Formats: sequence, structure tokens, C-alpha cells
Amino acid sequence: MKTMDSTIQVRRSGERSPTRPNRTLRLFAVDASLFALFIVVVNVPLTGLAIHEWLGIVIAIGMVAHILQHANWVVTTTRRLLSATSLQNRVNYLLVVGIFIGFVSIIASGLLISEVALPWIGVTPPGAPFMLWLHLASVGWVIWLTTIHLAVNWRWIASASDRLIFKRFARSGGTR
Ligand code: HEM
Ligand code: HEM
Repeated sequence: MKTMDSTIQVRRSGERSPTRPNRTLRLFAVDASLFALFIVVVNVPLTGLAIHEWLGIVIAIGMVAHILQHANWVVTTTRRLLSATSLQNRVNYLLVVGIFIGFVSIIASGLLISEVALPWIGVTPPGAPFMLWLHLASVGWVIWLTTIHLAVNWRWIASASDRLIFKRFARSGGTR
């Protein structure tokens, strides 16, 4: 029987295999945390520099988790690029490569201009006007790439939110 899970997981010509509810929950938890962290970290005046830097480092750890969760996707799609695959898959692959380079660039340049986190562990980073420029410029285009990344995955986000949040809420009679 085709479950709701397989419906929300098998997308874009079956690139993702049907998975268990726990996997959906784990994916959703990491995605939602990354999104929330990104919104907070991008608003530096909201948090101050110290929290900005520490949360920026937490995002780096979250990104590693996010990429590990999609290791199969990376391997399968890279192989497919070498054979015949749709233009849509190729464009999405380029988008993912772009967003990956963007986040590496933000976090590496952030560490190199760090005024709080690295000095706290006894390392004085070199800092440089170019690194500051790179940090801010990368943020500029990563915001756009992340928006497109979320738009591409919108159907998954809507289905998973519906099942994990709204249906649970409805089952509990809206009391929690
Ligand atoms: C704020 C940052 C990000 C957010 C909120 C985010 C969110 C999401 C969401 C909601 C999905 C679909 C559901 C899922 O399978 O988990 C997804 C898929 C994916 N993400 Fe991200 N992501 C972010 C950054 C990144 C970065 C930096 C990479 C770098 C490699 C990446 C790689 C992928 C891959 C490979 C997939 C599966 C392929 C696809 O469906 O396009 N994501 N992401
Ligand atoms: C995804 C992660 C990150 C994002 C989206 C981000 C975003 C930003 C933005 C938008 C600013 C400009 C703030 C303003 O001018 O009002 C900024 C400044 C800064 N960020 Fe990040 N950042 C990230 C990670 C990091 C990390 C990991 C560090 C260091 C550990 C860091 C260190 C800094 C520093 C020192 C500044 C101040 C630069 C200055 O004006 O002198 N950032 N960041």
C-alpha cells in the first residue's frame, strides 16, 4: 500500500526513496532548526556579535548534519549527472553546489574576522577587509539561493508540516 510517507518523499522522478516517519521527522527537525537559526544569525543587531558568532558556528554543525542526511542524494545525483538526467535535476544540483559554497564562504570568512568566539578559545584570527567583504557578499547571495532552495522543496515542506504539525494538532483537538 502506498503510504502518505512515500507520497511526500518520492519526488522529482523518484530521486528520494520512500522513507520511514522517523526519517521525515529527523529531516524536518534539522531543516526547521537551520531555517530558524539562519533568520536569527542574519539579524546581527538583534542578538549582538557574540551570540551571532556562536550561533554561526552552530549553523556550521547543522549544515554538516543536513548534508550527511542527504549523502545518498549527493551520491545518486552526482552519478546521474554523468549519465542522462533532466535539465531540472542539473539546475537543482548546481543550486545545491552554489548554496554549499556560499555557506562555506560565510562561515570560513566569519571565523577569519571573528572578534569573540575564536579569541575566546585563544586564537586571534587575522581579520582582513577582504574577509569582511566576502562575509557580507556571501550572505547577500546565500539569502537568494536559500530562498530558491526552499521554493524547490516547497511541496515537501508543506506535506511534512501538514503531517507533523497540523494533523497532530488537529488530533489533539487543538489543545496543544
Ligand atoms: C538555511 C539553510 C537551509 C535550509 C533551511 C534547508 C532546507 C532544506 C529542505 C526543507 C529540504 C527538503 C527536505 C529535506 O529533504 O530535508 C532540503 C533538501 C536538501 N538540502 Fe537543504 N537547506 C539549507 C541549506 C542547505 C545547504 C547549505 C546544502 C548544501 C549542500 C543543502 C543541501 C540539500 C540537499 C542535497 C537536499 C536534498 C535535495 C533537494 O531536495 O534539493 N541544503 N533542504
Ligand atoms: C550562516 C552564518 C552567518 C551569517 C548568515 C552571517 C551574517 C552576517 C551579517 C549579515 C553580518 C553584518 C552585520 C551588520 O553589519 O549589521 C555579519 C557580521 C559579522 N559576522 Fe557573521 N554571519 C554568519 C556566521 C558568522 C560566523 C560563524 C562568525 C564568526 C565565528 C561571524 C562573524 C561575524 C563578525 C565578526 C561580523 C562583524 C563584521 C564587522 O562589521 O566588523 N559570522 N554576519
